[in-house]
Amino acid sequence: MKKIRAGIVGGTGYAAHELIKILSRHPMADIGFITSKSETGKKVSAYFPDLPADLEMQFEPPNQNEFQSADVVFLCTPHGESQKWVPKILESGSHVIDLSGDYRLRSSESYEHWYAAKHTDEANLVKAVYGLPEIYKNQIRGADLIANPGCYPTGALLSLIPLLKAGAIRPDKLIIDAKSAVSGAGKKPSQITHFVEANENLTPYAPGHSHRHIGEIEQELQRAVQEKTAVIFVPQLVPINRGILETIYIDRPVVKNQTECIDILKDFYRAAPFVRVLENQLPNIRMTAGTNRCAIGAVYDDDTDVLILINSFDNLLKGASGQAVQNMNISFGFDETTGLI
Ligand SMILES: NC(=O)c1ccc[n+]([C@@H]2O[C@H](COP(=O)([O-])OP(=O)(O)OC[C@H]3O[C@@H](n4cnc5c(N)ncnc54)[C@H](OP(=O)(O)O)[C@@H]3O)[C@@H](O)[C@H]2O)c1
Repeated sequence: MKKIRAGIVGGTGYAAHELIKILSRHPMADIGFITSKSETGKKVSAYFPDLPADLEMQFEPPNQNEFQSADVVFLCTPHGESQKWVPKILESGSHVIDLSGDYRLRSSESYEHWYAAKHTDEANLVKAVYGLPEIYKNQIRGADLIANPGCYPTGALLSLIPLLKAGAIRPDKLIIDAKSAVSGAGKKPSQITHFVEANENLTPYAPGHSHRHIGEIEQELQRAVQEKTAVIFVPQLVPINRGILETIYIDRPVVKNQTECIDILKDFYRAAPFVRVLENQLPNIRMTAGTNRCAIGAVYDDDTDVLILINSFDNLLKGASGQAVQNMNISFGFDETTGLI
């Protein structure tokens, strides 16, 4: 099989860094170009000294001619920025995998609600495939525009969809408590992410029904069971570099038995190489950090009639760049696991 040529836009960010590491070892893809507005002309391996020094390429300015030469372009840009590039890249004949939130929601109304901005590329927004491979593998095959899921939605959807589909839980009020590493917020420090604020601290932000990932989670849960769901979500920032741990509380589940829940999850993911359902153990951050895996555990408490689902995954890999490569592998007909651990 011939190798494909991949391009990366937004090359100096955290997600791009992980992508470069994966793609520079990928047996079926070569990196054709890496663009950067802020570091144009700089050698990529000088900017990221942990990359092999023989990676000779330099950051280039984003350029339409380059897009034509690529089979796939990964957009590692912020939301709002990706939608400026997608129409141009698709026109040039290349496939796009967008890591931002620009193409994850199914309508421009929903985008406007959750992102407080108008979408400028509605035609492609409605065509994009939501790139959660464990749920949408058939649609991802050959897709020319893949919206890579958000980090928080990845773990929440992988935990909830199988149980909802099996009727083991109802799509009522779902409470998600999520703890994320600081890299989840990108490279530019903010009031809550700069070292002195984040270190030795734990900070909740956007609690309730306000974080924009809720739109994506509710949309995909609703698609899975054709019923409206309501998610209460409390994200928290923890002073670690990478990893997310989510605890999901389901009051009065239909199935009142931990083993039965685990069996449903195991059955659903029996052919999924990157989801590990745990039987006698609970997920923790270290278990999945540095991998493309999501670990899921379940506990049923019969005193209170509450089912607790816990998941962990690496926000930069299964929550971003690892999943993006998994999508590329499926889309181009390679083994799903190629280049990933
Ligand atoms: N971090 C995560 O855990 C995570 C998880 C899932 C999804 N995502 C999404 O993936 C995308 C990249 O995330 P990231 O964490 O790598 O972000 P980041 O560290 O902030 O990097 C984003 C890069 O985009 C480029 N860029 C282009 N136009 C920009 C603009 N107008 N403002 C700021 N940067 C601009 C910059 O690179 P140049 O200056 O080199 O062009 C920048 O380094 C985002 O959409 C993010 O929401 C991130």
